[in-house]
Amino acid sequence: MAYEEIKGSEHEEEEEEAVMVSIGSYGGKVRALVAGEESAAEETMLLWGIQQPTLSKHNAFVSQSSLQLRLDACGHSLSIIQSPSSLSTPGVTGAVMWDSGVILGKFLEHSVDSGMLVLQGKKVVELGSGCGLVGCIAALLGGQVILTDLPDRLRLLRKNVEANMRHSDVQGSTKVTELTWGDDPDPEIIEPAPDYVLGSDVIYSEGAVVDLLATLEKLSGSKTTILLAGELRNDAILEYFLERAMKDFVIGRVDQTLWHPDYCSSRVVLYVLERK
Ligand SMILES: C[S@@+](CC[C@H](N)C(=O)[O-])C[C@H]1O[C@@H](n2cnc3c(N)ncnc32)[C@H](O)[C@@H]1O
Repeated sequence: MAYEEIKGSEHEEEEEEAVMVSIGSYGGKVRALVAGEESAAEETMLLWGIQQPTLSKHNAFVSQSSLQLRLDACGHSLSIIQSPSSLSTPGVTGAVMWDSGVILGKFLEHSVDSGMLVLQGKKVVELGSGCGLVGCIAALLGGQVILTDLPDRLRLLRKNVEANMRHSDVQGSTKVTELTWGDDPDPEIIEPAPDYVLGSDVIYSEGAVVDLLATLEKLSGSKTTILLAGELRNDAILEYFLERAMKDFVIGRVDQTLWHPDYCSSRVVLYVLERK
């Protein structure tokens, strides 16, 4: 992790002397979350105070009532089938796309285009893939991607992956497989350890956080970089996640200046993590 101290950011009063670091294989400098008793609480207070997530548009990049989401990425027009009616089934969240998934997918594309990230030939595991947009983009960018989710979510996920990986110029590869957080992952997921682990909108309940972190630990080798995008809807759960994650991971927040310029939202936060 390379350190550099900067003073006088655009949020000078709130974020004086932010420590900018490089974490894992992501080339951009990110704001270090310095581990300490209050730091998870400070981070969430800062996010809610500065970004005021509740004031900005909900579902800015998705329409969860539509049967299909279209998105241009990596020179292709991707078509993601959604099942809006499943949203009313308790516990089913992955049958539609979420803003942080679109933002993470376009962030990957932008980061590769700007030389901050290399996915070509890298092993990538996506957690809680839902409809699969992020994993498909990672594969179009050259990653050898394993998209994972709960067993009953895999049918729609497979359908979307097959439909979007038909292009003849797909540089990477895809595989869809079950991974329930907290359970032992299949050996092919952890051997060798992935170069990248991706997750969008996967931090949403205290119970899930514990299992998610257990899985992140199992998947993280010495060269694994984790990219997580989350929607700012519950400060207590994000704080809980950060507090626990800081014990085992170095964490940095990616400024929106490094995101795809057309896919930013103050309701979303993006973190990069690597194992300590
Ligand atoms: C809010 S959705 C986000 C889906 C997708 N990543 C996106 O951004 O659109 C959360 C995803 O995590 C999955 N998930 C929830 N709990 C899980 C668990 N315990 N193990 C594995 N996946 C889980 C859900 O099935 C769902 O696909």
